Amino acid sequence: MLALGIETSCDETGVALYDTDDGLLAHALHSQVAMHAEYGGVVPELASRDHIRRTLPLLRQVLTQSGRALDEIDAIGYTQGPGLAGALLVGASIGAALGYALKVPVIGLHHLEGHLLSPLLEPNPPAFPFVALLVSGGHTQLMEVRGVGQYHLLGETLDDAAGEAFDKTAKLLGLGYPGGPALSRLAQEGRPGKFKLPRPMLHSGDLNFSFSGLKTAVLTLARNQPGDPQTLADIACAFQEAIVEVLVSKAIDAIKRSGFERLVVAGGVGANRLLREKLTAKAVKRGAEVFYPKLEFCTDNGAMIAFAAAQRLKQGAAAVDGFTVRPRWDLDELEPAA
Ligand code: KG4
Ligand code: ZN
Repeated sequence: MLALGIETSCDETGVALYDTDDGLLAHALHSQVAMHAEYGGVVPELASRDHIRRTLPLLRQVLTQSGRALDEIDAIGYTQGPGLAGALLVGASIGAALGYALKVPVIGLHHLEGHLLSPLLEPNPPAFPFVALLVSGGHTQLMEVRGVGQYHLLGETLDDAAGEAFDKTAKLLGLGYPGGPALSRLAQEGRPGKFKLPRPMLHSGDLNFSFSGLKTAVLTLARNQPGDPQTLADIACAFQEAIVEVLVSKAIDAIKRSGFERLVVAGGVGANRLLREKLTAKAVKRGAEVFYPKLEFCTDNGAMIAFAAAQRLKQGAAAVDGFTVRPRWDLDELEPAA
């Protein structure tokens, strides 16, 4: 079965073709980062308009790359939510129109399910069950995953998401948007231990997080320090150390509590090098294995949606009627399709 995946939930247009026999055949991505950078964040209306411009050219690109024809597509999956309503509607309407024209089923996917399953695209995929640490721009959650559609929330952030904390802190330090990657690059120039920032909720005894105080702590620290490049790098380093320590500690705790031996890390912050190093080291000590998607599939992409669509269709997922989006949608509301 050949599944087409369309991702338009935020500021990346992603399109991919996944074949249940041959695996991922092609994927293409257009990032709107440069367009939104001017405004310091995502402008929803501009995002929607750009998805309209980009989706079909990206579709042509993946067809050419894979050597497949449009009429070979057996099913279509689009990101139904969560995300920006207008942006989601672009993927939903293009998916619905294509489905109607090609007479193939169209299904709506949960964006975070896409992230969560993305490590399964790798050559040595994790077996179920596993614990998933979802760390994106909009979400920070620990999930117990027993199979496709079997997600149980263990803990989540009470305020800012990890990626959001990276982005807001980067903005405070004058690094522009989206700041996560830039902040982690700057942190590499910093001297570890030069400044110590709080580790919010490290000893809360549960698996929840809170990152908004960390951003305020950075603001207070930065105000009282000279703004020279080395000091800024030291602050970036202290921020990254604090956030990574909390994420690692809670993820390891989640492994302990669940008794599972596998941890999956997904979402944009999963690209963070320090997080990967520390998490892998700590997990290995416990005899657990950590699985990551490849770097390009940590952030939003079409491949994870095409893959999730194929898994859902294998389960017997029902086609959507018309086109619908769910801008707000909790992952643990999902159930197996059949
Ligand atoms: O998963 P994603 O592409 O979008 C959402 O679904 O939200 O995640 C984007 C987030 C942004 O906040 C970005 O700053 C962050 O992931 N990010 C990083 C890194 N690369 C991306 N944060 C820290 N270190 C990185 N290397
Ligand atoms: Zn995402």
